[in-house]
This record gives sequence, C-alpha cells and structure tokens, in this order.
Amino acid sequence: MDGNGRWAKERGLPRREGHRAGAESVREITHTCIDLGVEFLTLYAFSSENWNRPPAEVSALMNLLDRFLSEKSKDLDQQNIRLLAIGQLDRLPRKTRGLLDKLIDRTSHHSALTLVLALSYGGREEIVEAARSLAANAAAGTLAPEEIDTALFASRLQTAGIPDPDLLIRTSGEMRISNFLLWQISYAEIVIIKKFWPDFRRNDLTEAVQEYQRRHRRFGTL
Ligand code: FPP
Repeated sequence: MDGNGRWAKERGLPRREGHRAGAESVREITHTCIDLGVEFLTLYAFSSENWNRPPAEVSALMNLLDRFLSEKSKDLDQQNIRLLAIGQLDRLPRKTRGLLDKLIDRTSHHSALTLVLALSYGGREEIVEAARSLAANAAAGTLAPEEIDTALFASRLQTAGIPDPDLLIRTSGEMRISNFLLWQISYAEIVIIKKFWPDFRRNDLTEAVQEYQRRHRRFGTL
C-alpha cells in the first residue's frame, strides 16, 4: 500500500494523514473485493523494516491499526469477512495484538472474503522460520531431509492454507517486491499502478482485475 507519505506531502500534510487516508482506501478496497468475487486479499500494512521508521510514525500507524481493528468489527460481521494476520505478531504492542487476536477469533466462521493483514511481516523472515521448524524436526529425528519438498515447505509458512496470490498490485509506481510474500508470488501476475495508495479506489481495483483477466498465464509451460 505504497505512497501514503507522498500523498500527504503533495498536500502539505503530515505523513500520518496519508496513512489515515490510506485506511479509507482499505475499507473501499475490501468491499470492492467482495463485489468482484475475490476470495482472498492480503494487505502489506507494516513490514519488518517499518519498525525502523521514526517512533512517532510507528506509533501513529499502530494507533491507526488499533482504530481500524476496533471500528471494523461490525463491518467484518456485516460483510462476512474473515480476518487473518501474518508476520512477527509478537512484536506488535500488547493492545494491538489483543485487538487483533480477538477479531481473528470472532470472524473465524466468516466466508465471503478472507482479509489477511501482513503486519511486522517480512518474506525472508517467514522463510527462515519455516526452514528452522523443518531443521528442528530433522534434528529431532522425526523428519528425513529427503522428505522436504515444496508442499511440505509451504505448509510451514504462515500462509499455510491460504492460496498463493494470482495478482500482485503495487501502488505509487514502485517496481520492487520489498520482501513481500517472496515464496508465494512465484507465479503471481504483477500490476503496477502509478497512483498513491490513498487514491487507489474501487475503479482502480476493477481495472487491475480486468488487466489480470487479459493476461495469459502459462506457469512455465507453453
Ligand atoms: C506505505 O506508504 C504504507 C505503509 C507503511 C502503511 C500502510 C498502512 C495503512 C494504509 C493504514 C493502516 C492499515 C490498515 C490495515 C488499516 P509509505 O509510508 O511508504 O509512503 P511513501 O512511499 O509515499 O513514503
């Protein structure tokens, strides 16, 4: 969800105002996903590296997240949205973690859309965790190295049970992956949007999905 800071700067506003406007886009985009029949949406809301931003910005983002989690509860029920989270969640402030856990639990039976928040998330960190868990099994003698294949590896990632993304959208024209779902995006179609995230709304998502539909996916074959 790139470009919140630049969106604010263009308007002479503090960066946190960009994040606040970005949270509005999150609401509109989740609703649009349901209307389009998209079943899984993963939002990169906070990366492992984002902890290195100035403390005031980190705290503004956590407050925004708290507000989102508190206010979104009714909406998740009404829209039949299941919430999940991936990332190093034990690094989140205790209050945020509490709100998150409660909402994940409360919405676990919903089925229209699964909204996955990537929080304190890093693709490399996730892969290392999976490797560590397999290595621990091997060291304990419960797993032979030859038994490790892509399916077993994927089952140790935090996204186990969540399908790999078909479409990866990056806003604000950035042409980088930035440590996002490194394993899972192997065959994702990439659409780069020039607009900043707070300006990314219903029509933009619909157009990105139409662009996806025009792609011919080959998965390495002819
Ligand atoms: C990247 O833009 C955006 C973030 C680091 C935060 C994204 C968070 C939200 C949209 C709001 C909170 C999330 C939820 C789920 C309610 P940037 O700050 O790097 O902007 P820049 O690239 O213009 O500097």
